[in-house]
Amino acid sequence: MRSVNIGICGLGTVGAGVYNVLNRNSKQINSRANCDIVISQVGARRDNPNCDTADTDVSRDIFDVARNPDIDIVVELIGGTDVAFELVMLALENGKHVVTANKALIAMHGMEIFAAAESRGLIVAYEAAVAGGIPIIKALREGLAANRINWLAGIINGTTNFILSEMDSKGREFADVLTEAQEKGYAEADPTFDVEGIDAAHKLVIMASLAFAMPLNLDGIFTDGITKLEPQDVGYARELGYAIKHLGITRQTENGVELRVHPTLVPESCLIAGVNDVSNAVMVNADAVGTTLYYGPGAGSEPTASSVIADIVDVARTMGSAADSWVPALGCNSASLQQQTIMAIEDIDTSFYIRFAALDKPGVLSDITKIMADAGISIEAIIQREQPAGEDYVNVIILTNVTREKLLDAAVENIEQLETVRGNVSFIRVEHLDQ
Ligand code: HSE
Repeated sequence: MRSVNIGICGLGTVGAGVYNVLNRNSKQINSRANCDIVISQVGARRDNPNCDTADTDVSRDIFDVARNPDIDIVVELIGGTDVAFELVMLALENGKHVVTANKALIAMHGMEIFAAAESRGLIVAYEAAVAGGIPIIKALREGLAANRINWLAGIINGTTNFILSEMDSKGREFADVLTEAQEKGYAEADPTFDVEGIDAAHKLVIMASLAFAMPLNLDGIFTDGITKLEPQDVGYARELGYAIKHLGITRQTENGVELRVHPTLVPESCLIAGVNDVSNAVMVNADAVGTTLYYGPGAGSEPTASSVIADIVDVARTMGSAADSWVPALGCNSASLQQQTIMAIEDIDTSFYIRFAALDKPGVLSDITKIMADAGISIEAIIQREQPAGEDYVNVIILTNVTREKLLDAAVENIEQLETVRGNVSFIRVEHLDQ
């Protein structure tokens, strides 16, 4: 059998997983790739105790790997965007195919990287960049090729899902769960990328490009994290029959594409509401197939390695064939990609959960329902909690029907101005994901 030489750059959580799984499962992997995949070199600043590289050429300079004339495929697993971009471009300049797990790199520099690869007849593969071990790129790009995609919604950050699940089921503190996620290697080097939704935004942009044949572009995406979520909202949501999940949602509408990441109430009856811990799940609604759901581990060493190695196998098997038979990086040739308007969050239509503290006296609720009625917002459910002893204010929770977000914003402003309402009104978007 022919040999395909790979160079692995980065020996962190994912790099060690790739190294170990490639060695452990080499027989199966080589037979699937129809060649011998050989780890020719590893580039890593330091060793990883989880991985014995004694028999491998290890360079402390990752750029050695991109320049190594023996190497066919450079596997970029260093993360970050600056050095990683330099490394990938150098690898392409030196005629190497590239496999990467780097979502920030693809979301921010993907168009430039794909153009450089295309002009040199090289492949850039990035399955592990979205949803860890779930083959969602392949599903969107190839499995659903017959369809017009209407929308997709996903739990695409394992760390936030792990934190929300632990807070919900065990009442644990946010900071304590985040530390555990870091120890387990789920969290980004800068965990604000996880908890503020930036990591999910990178992944959503990639999936939206594949779903709607748009160039990769982070401009216009709405991003909100989980740091402002209050445990009481998780409890009220449960009372109303909903779970709170941190979702990335993109939808094709007549007015453009919705592109948003935020905490979301989803009905408990919806399968995605039951996706817990570090698991990810992506629901895709498309015209021919209907709704499909892709579920699995969204982070972690070997789950992510599983996707990286699937790409290595794909590239190793394909690279000898004519470039026009390859699946293009974004599923269609670059001339077919079309920029679309990304909708402002104020212009999206959805339902809302709102919570505020109001004086417990006659007439207060009718003032509030009048504000909602004047804004044309229909109320689906309302609950008022008994006030604790000595407290004049009660929590009021309202679930609305679908409305335009700017109407809700105006109503919220009016509610906050009522003398009988204390503090700010909190709101969380609600998605039923049923059509
Ligand atoms: N920090 C990411 C997550 C890793 O928690 O999902 C996988 O991309």
